[in-house]
Amino acid sequence: MDNFIFSNHDTVELAKKYGTPLYVLSEDIIEENAETMKTAFEKCNIDYEINYAGKAFLTIAMCKIVENAGLSLDVVSGGELYTAIKAGFPMEKVCFHGSNKSIAEIEMAFDNKVGKIVADSEYELEILDRIAAKKNHKPKVMVRVSPGIEAHTHEYVQTGRIDSKFGVPLKLVDKVLSDSKKFIYLNIIGLHCHIGSQIYDEKPFLLAAETMLKLMKKIEGYGFEMKELNLGGGFGIPYLKDDSVFDVDTYVQRLVYFTKNKCDEIGLKFPKLLVEPGRFIVGTAGITLYEVGIVKEIPHTRKYISVDGGMADNPRPALYDALYHAVVANKMVFSDDEEELVTISGRCCETDTLITDVLLPKCEPGDILAVLNTGAYNYSMASNYNRLPKPAVVLLKDDKDQIIVERETYEDIILKDRLPDWYK
Ligand code: LLP
Repeated sequence: MDNFIFSNHDTVELAKKYGTPLYVLSEDIIEENAETMKTAFEKCNIDYEINYAGKAFLTIAMCKIVENAGLSLDVVSGGELYTAIKAGFPMEKVCFHGSNKSIAEIEMAFDNKVGKIVADSEYELEILDRIAAKKNHKPKVMVRVSPGIEAHTHEYVQTGRIDSKFGVPLKLVDKVLSDSKKFIYLNIIGLHCHIGSQIYDEKPFLLAAETMLKLMKKIEGYGFEMKELNLGGGFGIPYLKDDSVFDVDTYVQRLVYFTKNKCDEIGLKFPKLLVEPGRFIVGTAGITLYEVGIVKEIPHTRKYISVDGGMADNPRPALYDALYHAVVANKMVFSDDEEELVTISGRCCETDTLITDVLLPKCEPGDILAVLNTGAYNYSMASNYNRLPKPAVVLLKDDKDQIIVERETYEDIILKDRLPDWYK
C-alpha cells in the first residue's frame, strides 16, 4: 500500500472519512508509552507513581485512557479538574498543580477530594491551610521547589531555574518550612520540582534529585516527615528522524540507584518516587493530517506548500521554533529524484511556517500531508486565531477509529458572541 499507515490505520482513508485538518491519536501508542515507563519503575521494585501531565492533552476520553493505563493524573486548572471529574476519574489519583490557583479552584479541588495538591508558594500554603480548616479536610500536600537547575532545552520551557515564577525558591525553603506547626491543617508529605521540558540528558534530573533529597533531609529536621519526592516531567521525545530517544529504562535505573545511595549517605528514608510525564506519554501517539492547497514557487528562493491548518492548531513552531517531520500520506512510495526541498506553511494571516525545509515527494493540491509526533501540546494549545474552527480529534484503537472531540463549526465560533443592546 502506498499510503501512510499510522498505528495500523490508513491515514488517507481517515482524512477522507473525517476531513482535514485532523488530529489523530493512537490509544495503542499511548498504552505502549505508559507501559515503557511503568515497566522501568516496576523493574526497580520501589514505591512509585506516574502522574500523566494533562496539560499535554486532556479530554474526557483521555482521562479514561489514563485511568485504564494505571496512571495518576496531574491537573493544573479548574478546567482540567472539571474534565477529570466529568470523566469519573478517581479523585484520589488526581494531583492538583498550578502556580497561581484561584480560591474557587482550590475549593473545587477540596470539594471533590483530590488526592494531592502541589503548593507553589508560601502564600498558597497559607491559603490551603485556611481552606483546609474551613472544610475540615486535611489534604496531602507537596511543596514545589525551584531547584535552580538549568536543563538544556528551549528557554521558554525551562521552569526550574533560579529566576523562575514556579515554586518556592531554593533559598526560601528553610524559611517557608521552618516549623511543622505553621500549617497544622495540612499533611505536608514531600517535595516537588520540575526542571523543564523536552530534556534528553539525565544529568540535570539526577542533579535535581540530589538537591531535593538534601533539602528533604533538612526539612525533616523541622519536624516534617518527607515521604514523597516528585521530580516532575520533561522527558524528551524524537521529533525529527534522527533525534535521539530518551532512554527511560536506563534513566529510571540510574535514578533509583543514585537516589538510594544519596539517601544512605545523608540518612534519609528512601522516599516514594513520582514523575509527571506529559509529552512522553502522548507526543508520539499523535499526528495531524492536512490537505495541501496552494503550491507556490518563489523563483530561486523556496517552494511553499500551503496546508489547511497552521499556527491555530499547532502554535509550537511559532512559539518555540519547534521542529517537526512530515510525510505526504498518499505518496509513500517514490524515487529519490522525485523529492524536493519545500517549506510547509499554514493558512493563517501570518508567516505561520509549520516546517522549514523538509524533503518531500512533489506535492500537488489535494495531497494529504501528515505532520508527525503532534500528540502533545498541539490540541491543548490550539486557538481559534483567524476564527478558524478547531479540528476534530479521532482516536485509534486496534482496528477501530472514533471521534473523541468533534470538529468545531462556524456556529461554535460565534456561540459566545453577544451584541450590546445599542446594536440590537
Ligand atoms: N509537571 C510540571 C510541573 C510541568 O510544568 C510540566 C510541563 C510537566 C509536568 C510535563 O512536562 P512534559 O513531560 O510534558 O515535558 N508547551 C510547551 C511545554 C510546556 C511544558 C510546561 N510544563 C511545549 O509545547 O513544548
